[in-house]
Amino acid sequence: MRSTQIRTLFTDYFTSRGHHRVPSSSLIPDDPTLLLANAGMNQFKPYFLGETIPPFPRATSVQKCARTSDIDNVGRTNRHATFFEMMGNFSFGDYFKADAIAFAWELLTEHFGLEKDRLWITVFKDDDEAETLWRRIGVPASRIQRLGMEDNYWSMGVPGPCGPCSEVNYDRGPSFGKEGGPAIDGERYVEIWNLVFMQFQRGEGDKKGNFPIIGELAGRSIDTGLGLDRLAAILQDVENVCSTDLLLPTLDTVQNLAGRPYPGEGEEKVSFQVVTEHARSIAFLIADGVLPAKDGRGYILRRLMRRAIRHARLLGISGPVLPAATTSVIGNLGGVWPELHTQTALIEQVVTAEEESFTRTLAQGTRLLNAAIGRARENRSAALPGETAFELADTYGFPLELTVEAARDAGLTVEEDRFATLLDEQRRRAKAGGKAKTVEALKKMDTYRELATDLPRTEFVGYDHLRAEAIVKGIVSGGSVVTTASEGAQVELALDRSPFYAEAGGQIGDTGTLTTGGGTVVQITDTRYGLEGFRVHTGRVLRGELSTGDQGEAAVDGDRRKGLMRSHSATHILHAVVRATLGDHARQQGSLVEPDRLRFDFAHFSALTADQLAQIEATVNAHVLDDPYVRAWYADRVDAEAAGAIALFGEKYGDTVRIVDIGDFSRELCGGTHVAHGSQVGAFRLLSESSIGSNLRRVEALTGHDALRYLDTERRLLNELSGLLGTRPAEAPDVLRKRLGTLAAAQNQLSRLRAEELRHQAERLAGQAQPAGEGRLVAQIVTGVTPDELRGLSIEVVRRVQRGPAVVVLGAEHEGRALLAAAVSSDLDQAGAEASQVLVEAARTVGGGSGGRGPIASAGGRRPNALRQALALAAQDATRLLGER
Ligand code: SER
Repeated sequence: MRSTQIRTLFTDYFTSRGHHRVPSSSLIPDDPTLLLANAGMNQFKPYFLGETIPPFPRATSVQKCARTSDIDNVGRTNRHATFFEMMGNFSFGDYFKADAIAFAWELLTEHFGLEKDRLWITVFKDDDEAETLWRRIGVPASRIQRLGMEDNYWSMGVPGPCGPCSEVNYDRGPSFGKEGGPAIDGERYVEIWNLVFMQFQRGEGDKKGNFPIIGELAGRSIDTGLGLDRLAAILQDVENVCSTDLLLPTLDTVQNLAGRPYPGEGEEKVSFQVVTEHARSIAFLIADGVLPAKDGRGYILRRLMRRAIRHARLLGISGPVLPAATTSVIGNLGGVWPELHTQTALIEQVVTAEEESFTRTLAQGTRLLNAAIGRARENRSAALPGETAFELADTYGFPLELTVEAARDAGLTVEEDRFATLLDEQRRRAKAGGKAKTVEALKKMDTYRELATDLPRTEFVGYDHLRAEAIVKGIVSGGSVVTTASEGAQVELALDRSPFYAEAGGQIGDTGTLTTGGGTVVQITDTRYGLEGFRVHTGRVLRGELSTGDQGEAAVDGDRRKGLMRSHSATHILHAVVRATLGDHARQQGSLVEPDRLRFDFAHFSALTADQLAQIEATVNAHVLDDPYVRAWYADRVDAEAAGAIALFGEKYGDTVRIVDIGDFSRELCGGTHVAHGSQVGAFRLLSESSIGSNLRRVEALTGHDALRYLDTERRLLNELSGLLGTRPAEAPDVLRKRLGTLAAAQNQLSRLRAEELRHQAERLAGQAQPAGEGRLVAQIVTGVTPDELRGLSIEVVRRVQRGPAVVVLGAEHEGRALLAAAVSSDLDQAGAEASQVLVEAARTVGGGSGGRGPIASAGGRRPNALRQALALAAQDATRLLGER
């Protein structure tokens, strides 16, 4: 049975039994506790926990899952994979064990046609009920086994719903191993379907994987997962998941690249399977917006890519492997998973770039590694130092396993303990840095907490008003809570209500003034959250004395705030335009909203071209000119996301969220302040684009007044330039291009003439050679030459002095300095004479030093008046040099 038929048969079976068909969620889960979607139930977690009322009591899905806990088993077993499709049926407080067991049995035996005798069941050790139900359905007691927490209790690995489970296993027969049922590990009894009886809620676990049960779920529920790979391997009667129709075309591609067939066993079999299996995970992860990075889910992707490349190299594939392997995944599975087709270009670009860079890393690391191996051998050491392994990993991204492998080939081990210690130390250092800061922060928090006891929240009125009547509820000065602050004091204020926006979501805090009825004025220079919902206004008492209980008017600096509103709305528009231009993966990763100025970070795998930047800028401006409506509304978080609002990673949102719509093209969860109409952004100007990390780009832009001022400056500069060129701005580039051409030609001509002139001068000087010692000497002062020309001239002259050994010493004055150059003829040079020998005294005389090795030397000094004397000394030294022969 083909995998397409398996999926359809599964979901049809359950939809015809009242289950709502739900599409797979993205591999990037909407759950901050998870890096990647790892089970079909992930997207239903709020339903199980009763946080959200499920819109249907039963559901069925085929979910994309990524699990890297088994990464080392890939290729070593027949059944493990880092990506797989999990088919599942779910009940949210509707049916429970009896129906779940009956559905699974009927579907497997009657629809998929699995032989009943080959099915083995495991149940949780205390679960008598489950065992009774399986026996009632016809499974003999001899094929039911009871197992403990590790095998038959399921949770997501993080706090959330959990419960005992029961697994259906398939006996692949004696050729796969010994008898004994799924209780014994191995390849013979393959777990295919896990039925989880969700009943409890678990808390945070410890390092060993133990976790406390912290409550019962409101309704007893069902979560099941049937691995498509494994069922396909059974129904297609192939040994291995890589030989199912899900992966066979990719395995074929790898065989073609390697130029030989996949062997049935051995280390090569592992490598073939790793490349094949990882290629699928890689394609799916990139299609869902994961990009390679140093940490988080990006690191998981990077690790998969590097592992696949390394195994390809082990197979002798030296050229690129990932582009072809992922292309075959797209070709094979793109019909069922259209995102693979939509993101084909992205997948190709990301894998190509990563493979190129890792290949360079491999080459660099290999050189370093070979050198270290050489040293270890010289020192007759049996192990490579942990320091080397650490440097390779830390600086070159060279995985430890690779170092160990290469060392092993050279008959060496690696000091892995030392490596682990160094890694640990580094982690501790990184943490300690963070801790020092938090101690300060904690102290501050205590003060705020003290202040916030009577005033937990500040009423924020700043969406609609820039001024508001406010009462001073608390004052912090000098690190503690005070009741009065005198003129000049630095203060942090708590107000009962405030129009001041506190820094959040990238938008910096408001500034302004607080003026009390008694005439005290406080200048507010920043606003931030002290605790959640509790605003702290930082400032200085400009005039008078401030006491708790004072009343007055809090006024935000309106012009500055308008600039902030322009920038914030422009950021939303930019985000929408960036995604529309570059693709859905280009999500916001961070932003800074300042008055009329913004910085925006987003995920993308390469630098933006000038055309892309121009297009983005033009589209943002086009949106602004269309004057889209800007609307803020509140909703339940789930409803908001169902309505397509974009939530940003790393931002915390409550149950009720504020949503900001701009026209029909932008909808984001956002607490920021925005313009009333899109056109109020005024103008938008991109300033720069750069890389700020792996697959992270940053653009900076101006809005409103700053954008206009920037345009103004550009216009002024252009006017000035065209003025200088004596032409109109529109013609300036052409005129300048022509002039530059003329200038280059003239410079060419000039240097030709100059070379000619210097040749003549060299002739002349050579003609003035005098006998000295056993040879001939030229010692002359010349004029109008640069230091380079003087050196060149001395070389030309010595070449031209005919007959026998010769020394040339030339002096010149250049920009107020004395220059000297000396050259010796080639026969002197061959006899070991150094030109610098003749300049030692001379250089000292002009107050400088000399340099140069071999036949040419030069010197410079700050006393041009002493040039003549220096030259005479040089001539004496030269004569001595010539006499020595
Ligand atoms: N959540 C269970 C699992 O992943 C069943 O779907 O195995």
